[in-house]
Amino acid sequence: MNFNLIVFVTLFIVVANEAKVLNEKSNTCQDLLGDELIEEIWAYENVKDKILNYVMGGDFKGKTYDELAKFVDTFGARPSGTSELEKSIDYMIDLTRKEGLNDIVTEELEVPHWERGVETLTMFEPRKKKMEILGLGKSVKTPPNGLTAEVVVISNFTHLEDTSDEEIKGKIVLYVPIFTTYSDTVIYRSQGAAKASAKGAVASLVRSIAPFSINSPHAGSQTYNDGVEPIPAAAITLEDADMITRLYNRGEKVKVNLIMDSTLETTVSRNTLIDLKGHKDPEKLVIVSGHIDSWDVGQGAMDDGGGMFVSWAVPVILRRLNLTPKRTIRTIFWTAEELGLYGAQAYKKAHESESHNINYIMESDEGTFAPLGLVANGNSKTRCIVAEVLKLFQSINASTLVESDSPGSDISVFTGNGIPGASLYNDNAKYFWFHHTEGDTMNVETPENLDLGTALWTAVAYIIADLSIDMPR
Ligand SMILES: *[C@@H]1O[C@H](CO)[C@@H](O)[C@H](O)[C@H]1NC(C)=O
Ligand SMILES: *[C@@H]1O[C@H](CO)[C@@H](O)[C@H](O)[C@H]1NC(C)=O
Repeated sequence: MNFNLIVFVTLFIVVANEAKVLNEKSNTCQDLLGDELIEEIWAYENVKDKILNYVMGGDFKGKTYDELAKFVDTFGARPSGTSELEKSIDYMIDLTRKEGLNDIVTEELEVPHWERGVETLTMFEPRKKKMEILGLGKSVKTPPNGLTAEVVVISNFTHLEDTSDEEIKGKIVLYVPIFTTYSDTVIYRSQGAAKASAKGAVASLVRSIAPFSINSPHAGSQTYNDGVEPIPAAAITLEDADMITRLYNRGEKVKVNLIMDSTLETTVSRNTLIDLKGHKDPEKLVIVSGHIDSWDVGQGAMDDGGGMFVSWAVPVILRRLNLTPKRTIRTIFWTAEELGLYGAQAYKKAHESESHNINYIMESDEGTFAPLGLVANGNSKTRCIVAEVLKLFQSINASTLVESDSPGSDISVFTGNGIPGASLYNDNAKYFWFHHTEGDTMNVETPENLDLGTALWTAVAYIIADLSIDMPR
């Protein structure tokens, strides 16, 4: 997931207030939904059991994991603009056709193709040390022999403001924000170079946006500001950032050489749309989605292979079980999410005139660890419907509704505009350990958690797509 363009507001209810809030909420929900709708939702219990049994104990058991492993082992990383990404899209289309689902279209769009090329960072004062780095998305390159400069350690943007331009000019700024939450600290990755450049820095480094590290730098997107000279930008490890900070604070002069050889061009990729047509209102859509592109490190198994595969599984399972809902289920594999939600924005633009037909939009892009429920937006009645549907999943501990006005990464393009939707809420406390690193591999995933996620995702999508009423806006 890329949080460059969105503010991730998740309201974790304080435990002490939880019971009270939930009670008040269920009273209001009872009034808003009425007995009839509540009964209607509970009548889906059998279908829900059928789906859960099929995925967790039947023919689909372990399949999400196996297919995801085959996919990421075959293609590896799938950065925007590469032939690996395009081949992986073709592969997913074939895999889907083999399931007898033939209602598949792709929609082309322009995407950036940024290649990092050779990257090195060498400290040579006060002593020599080679450091692991990952250039940040769309970063410009350095001159061939690199940039050699002193490092200025900056704790936060106030600190940067308080430092004179004289002290920054010609130096390499190293931001060392200590990870609290991703949404609070990612700004140093996404905006660090732009702000350092404005004060005359020649390059910008950032302590990786992560709570834990075994010397692994974390990639990620960043943007330059208009009117500011673009300067090279890279992430370094927590270990090296903290060591440089200690040296710097002891008054040592830290000098480094940074070499980056990146290139940026524009090319074409595709969003992939797979439809399981509804039997009553086929023009109305319940969208389930994840992105197919990844960073160029690791395998993109967690970000976002898992999310894409649980979404792929939805129409596959429903077709196998002969369950056709009233509305159309549309699976979307977004392309070029990592460099800035390109696929989602292109889809929104191309389908603007029919956006009223999006009944509900779902995305899994924050890990596929043990599912706990959904993070959902929408008006009160919509949130109550989701809360009631989630009660059906108490047996797998996935009944929690987290309320947020703009859930998701790609789908924030829609949910931020009032279209109701949800992202998968899961036990992802370790998500940012692996995020955008070489460590994002199949070893992060487990068959059991993927089965649980697939089961929840499929059953929720089916129920919402089949309810007698549209999700209120
Ligand atoms: C910003 O950094 C300065 C210098 O290290 C520090 O004194 C200040 O407390 C920091 N501010 C915040 C809000 O962390
Ligand atoms: C749900 O939670 C209960 C109680 O903690 C536990 O015994 C059970 O194994 C959990 N079920 C799943 C599917 O994780």
